[in-house]
Amino acid sequence: MITVMAITRFATGIVTTGMTRTIAMMDGTTATRIKEREEEMVGLQGKVAIITGAARGIGRASAIEFAREGARVVIADVNEEGLAETEREAGSFSDVTYRVTDVSRAADVKALVDDTIDRFGKLDVLFNNAGVLTPASVVELDEDIWDRTININLKSVYLGCKYAIPHMLSNGGGSIINTGSVNSLVAEPFLPAYCASKGGILMLTKQVALDYAQQNIRVNCICPGWVDTPINNPHADMMGGVDKVLEGIADWQPMGRQGQPREIARVAVFLASDDSSFMTGSAVVADGGMTAK
Ligand SMILES: NC(=O)c1ccc[n+]([C@@H]2O[C@H](COP(=O)([O-])OP(=O)(O)OC[C@H]3O[C@@H](n4cnc5c(N)ncnc54)[C@H](O)[C@@H]3O)[C@@H](O)[C@H]2O)c1
Repeated sequence: MITVMAITRFATGIVTTGMTRTIAMMDGTTATRIKEREEEMVGLQGKVAIITGAARGIGRASAIEFAREGARVVIADVNEEGLAETEREAGSFSDVTYRVTDVSRAADVKALVDDTIDRFGKLDVLFNNAGVLTPASVVELDEDIWDRTININLKSVYLGCKYAIPHMLSNGGGSIINTGSVNSLVAEPFLPAYCASKGGILMLTKQVALDYAQQNIRVNCICPGWVDTPINNPHADMMGGVDKVLEGIADWQPMGRQGQPREIARVAVFLASDDSSFMTGSAVVADGGMTAK
């Protein structure tokens, strides 16, 4: 138990929510204290998480890291073969199960959340990570690619929040993590739909964070730089090929290398865990220094 620090005020009640304990005082004020260290969960032990876009790349690396940290994980993607491989790899650490899901479809996202609740009885973490990228100028970009990009990247976050939050509320809180991009913060040539979707994700993150800040639901956005996954292949082709991109990478990503999916997954573990208990509405940049200049 914590020691109540107020000497001149007397406690009339204590409410514990997630990492914090709010103490009601006789004079009508409240004091909030962080729970003592020994009461915290270790890693992600005991937590139930959904990770979307988990058939490969950052989502797969995150499923493995979440499972290593003890979370039970439901992984989702449109690519069943990739999901089965992620389930196999992450499943050696914890209880991991997959569900084929198109994150741009409301019925699919609702079923994903409902299945998770049926299987595990609660939901602590939602990692909205699925995404697509098609480079083209705004003039050349087909309308259906615009719609597809906005629906998969941005509408999916709205849908995930819509269906997950009621369960998180009844569970006393939760953590929602959205994968934005450096393009949530700065634009890049030939990525109109992608930049619009990623800018939208950051603002949606902040908006939802405000609505649930007092109900212990934290909402944060990871903004990666160039990471070594296949999503970048069409972009790299447009820039002269992957080899050419890597030759010149130090010019725009100061660490002079690509990020690795696991480096983003570790940020997600932190945001999923109680170690980030005072963070909500944040853009967490992991970009090898790209946006530092
Ligand atoms: N790799 C990078 O450089 C980089 C940089 C910044 C942000 N991101 C973001 O990271 C996230 C993960 O991307 P990644 O780099 O691992 O790429 P990736 O292409 O390896 O993974 C994306 C995954 O999303 C899945 N997906 C696509 N459409 C879907 C849909 N409708 N429903 C469900 N799943 C769907 C794909 O099948 C794939 O498994 C994306 O949101 C991406 O925009 C990546």
